[in-house]
Amino acid sequence: MKKVRKAVFPVAGLGTRFLPATKAIPKEMLTVVDKPVIQYVVDEAREAGVEHFIFVTGRNKAVIEDHFDVQFELYDTLAQRGKGDQLSRLQQLQPSPGQTSFTRQQVPLGLGHAVWCARELVGDEPFALLLPDMIMQSRKSCLKAMVELYEETGNNIIAVQECDPAETHKYGIVGRGEETHTGFRVTEMVEKPKPGTAPSNLYINGRYILQPEIFKILESQERGAGNEIQLTDAMLKLGKQQPFYGYKYDGRTFDCGSPEGFVEANVAFALWRSDMNENMSEVIRTLLDEMHPQRQRSTG
Ligand code: UTP
Repeated sequence: MKKVRKAVFPVAGLGTRFLPATKAIPKEMLTVVDKPVIQYVVDEAREAGVEHFIFVTGRNKAVIEDHFDVQFELYDTLAQRGKGDQLSRLQQLQPSPGQTSFTRQQVPLGLGHAVWCARELVGDEPFALLLPDMIMQSRKSCLKAMVELYEETGNNIIAVQECDPAETHKYGIVGRGEETHTGFRVTEMVEKPKPGTAPSNLYINGRYILQPEIFKILESQERGAGNEIQLTDAMLKLGKQQPFYGYKYDGRTFDCGSPEGFVEANVAFALWRSDMNENMSEVIRTLLDEMHPQRQRSTG
């Protein structure tokens, strides 16, 4: 079985849900506490053992490439000023030379098309796909647990999470078959099922391990919903040739492509940090008290 060595990050979307913030800044570069959103996702992949990071970018996204580059002047200035801690943190986050590749999706024709743009860089091996809008908060990287499942089952893995059964029409939903190792066999995948028709309340949360045969399917460039080349359509076809397994992730996920999810991520990650938790908790309590004076503070 081939190891999962490469990860694809499609970052060519327009980010219209987050305008005007994303007019000049890619949404992936908006910061959650003190790191850009994309750094969280790259860190998750690195924790899972990924060795090569492939970014499918678009116009106005060059700053993402700069973020992962060495900044000589900055590093030098930090060293001269004795800011060794900050310097070593930057260096830890820095991919090694040759570990990153960037390709452009010249026209944003959909997620399936963005993935297809990475075909030459991925080659003939399985790869992880991480949607950078979605950032995860858990003790163990979601992708790491998926890689462990992959090493047991092979084939294709998708991470899923439970949603409110009344909201299944907003997501890609999977059917749950027999349990296997730390996951289950996926029996079906339905994109945004009509209310009352979903096979479960397990939605696909933006993390995948896919076999390279997906590229052959995407090559047909068939348009789906929204006249875009949809990844789900290609996965449905791949599912007829190869098994898909689901990994049920039980950590938190934040959709940083929407202002609400982004704000929630900032609050959650600030509270998660031991150096900020106490102060942030007090700030939040005070704000809530001021906004809702009738609210009783718990003294416990
Ligand atoms: P979204 O559905 O969030 O689309 O894409 P978007 O264009 O980025 O954002 P909105 O909806 O206009 O606010 C899901 C993921 O797929 C990538 C996006 O960058 C995001 O990571 N994507 C989407 C591409 O790389 N290319 C595309 O053509 C479409």
